[in-house]
Amino acid sequence: MPTEQTSPKSFYITTPIYYVTASPHIGTSYTTIAADTLARYHRMRGEDVLLVTGVDEHAQKVMRAAQEAGADVMDFVDGFAKVYRDAWQTLHISYDRFIRTTEDVHKAAVQEVFRKLLASGDIYKGEYQGWYCVPCETYFPESELVEGKCPDCGRPVEELAQPAYFFRTSKYSQALLEYIESHPGFILPESRRNEVVAFVKGGLRDTCVSRIGQGFGIPVPGDESHIVYVWFDALINYLTVAGYPELDSTKWPPDVQLMGKDILPRFHATIWPAMLMALGLPQPRMLFGHGWWVSDDGDKMSKSKGNIVVPQEAARSLAELSGCDFEVAVDAVRYFVLREVQFGLDGSFSQRALVGRFNADLANDLGNILNRALPLVDRFLEGVVPAPSEKTGAFGELVDSVKGKVEAALAVADFRGSLEAVWELLSAGNKFIDEKEPWALYKQGKMDEVGAVLYDVLDLVRIVATLLEPTMPVVAEEIWKQLGLAGHEELRCWDKCVAGLFPAGTRVCKGEPIFPRVDLAALDKAKAPAKKQDTKKGHKETAMISYEQFAQLDLRVGKVLNVENIPDADKLYKLTVDLGEEEPRTVVAGLAQAFGARELLDAMVVVVANLEPAKIRGVQSQGMILAAGEKQPLALVTLDRDCEVGSKIR
Ligand code: ME8
Ligand code: MG
Repeated sequence: MPTEQTSPKSFYITTPIYYVTASPHIGTSYTTIAADTLARYHRMRGEDVLLVTGVDEHAQKVMRAAQEAGADVMDFVDGFAKVYRDAWQTLHISYDRFIRTTEDVHKAAVQEVFRKLLASGDIYKGEYQGWYCVPCETYFPESELVEGKCPDCGRPVEELAQPAYFFRTSKYSQALLEYIESHPGFILPESRRNEVVAFVKGGLRDTCVSRIGQGFGIPVPGDESHIVYVWFDALINYLTVAGYPELDSTKWPPDVQLMGKDILPRFHATIWPAMLMALGLPQPRMLFGHGWWVSDDGDKMSKSKGNIVVPQEAARSLAELSGCDFEVAVDAVRYFVLREVQFGLDGSFSQRALVGRFNADLANDLGNILNRALPLVDRFLEGVVPAPSEKTGAFGELVDSVKGKVEAALAVADFRGSLEAVWELLSAGNKFIDEKEPWALYKQGKMDEVGAVLYDVLDLVRIVATLLEPTMPVVAEEIWKQLGLAGHEELRCWDKCVAGLFPAGTRVCKGEPIFPRVDLAALDKAKAPAKKQDTKKGHKETAMISYEQFAQLDLRVGKVLNVENIPDADKLYKLTVDLGEEEPRTVVAGLAQAFGARELLDAMVVVVANLEPAKIRGVQSQGMILAAGEKQPLALVTLDRDCEVGSKIR
């Protein structure tokens, strides 16, 4: 990466444009989250960023999916384009441009490229004799089929024999090899580059770039009975958004093009650079082919297997388990996918691993430092951050070194490395509090030192929040607020990741913990029924039970005699409930946010009387009160006329 420049540098980054045959899932979201993280990072460096994502609409499989759905194809793709945009909004994707290949500007760009290459002789007309795999949208000669099936996905292929246009990919084989070998950062990771080199050495054949047909697709200019091949069409999106044919020279070439390994060798690392060579245009600076996510059973995710991981759903369930804000949970999923697996390698997604990282990295390391430091500032410094002094600056060097590591890592899309570096700061900060014992310093009356220790810790948290902002923008915002820095936008940029800039006199704003820990035992319980039966959104389909099983429930009428708050548990009440037994029972219930204590006093309620007693926040709870509502209680189950306490319910 070149270092500082005077005029704002531009940074152009792309994701693949996704087929509109399915909603986004963890795989497509992964590429998009990674791209968004780099885009946010470069914006924080003051660069002029263009982050582009979008949808690939003119595929035969899209047309067939629309037909199967009995939908008009334009309505079908419009619907999915919206689904993608909505998903990206939910996942905090800050794209600058969302491209659809059905846009007129794009059609014009594709036709212009086609015309130009026809004129130069790089596209010629011939006869296509061979096979086509619709799921992969790829042409294969007979010799490449494996047992008559698609060599990539193993599915049946369709035979074609028709006049067609071809692009002279083969002509650029040698130039491409030389380019790859003389530009080591062009194709990453290195293992993929080696694969690509082997692929090119194996011999590139010319690419069929049209099919006979009319209707959905971009017509070949001057020969409208042909439609441009969907991949040729799709790759040109990267030129369209940069203004082709009037390319904006501050944008071109792309700095980073991200994709999965599935579409690197055959398309982005061969046909695409050959097209650019034929057009006489500079090559992208980096093509990164990342690894593959599989579901936690180790299987490739697919609709038919029903094991597709959807990040919004993972976030929703994390938020439910933890009680954290949904948007915080989304950031946690972003963090997880970038932290869990080295970018480039494959990974498997499981809710358990997500929760594990949430507890260990976010609740413990990141959450703790905040939850420890802020109350100390409140207690010892009346909530006000002191000025830096000759006693502060404990982390100056570490901050510089971590910042350097983060930058070096992000320059090669090593997200994991960048996050690991940030965690060096967090563990140093947590250790510093343990060692300095500001509470002991306070007792000894060493107020200068108390101030210096807490200053350094808060300053470190400020820097951590800044370094994490590209990955977890909402979390960074929340930390920023709790530090009392809302409004200090001038500090939220990359070059402010320097120790000693925390503004003296700031009043901190301790809030709710951002990352309430998930109880892993509760996760196991929640997981068992949710796994297979959780087919429809909203309503969990639970297994059928027999009458005998139902009869094991001891439901009884109770009367609430007393309602108390439980310290530090703002959702819970400690209730005293009369069930007509010798002694009234104590029941802990999560009703405190939905009901006032007075509303509950004297209420007739339904109690599960034979629920195993459990200790909740130090209080022994002897039963459960029934209420409607899944995440939060919405209404109390009560009785429509008077009835003796202790009556059984059937
Ligand atoms: O190929 N793990 O679109 P597509 C990781 N339209 N990444 C995954 C993944 C997984 N399990 N599944 C999908 C196309 N991806 C073309 C692209 S670009 C000019 C045209 C991601 O909807 C990954 O980035 O099949 C992969 O390359 C891309 O989605 C494929 O998306
Ligand atoms: Mg695909």
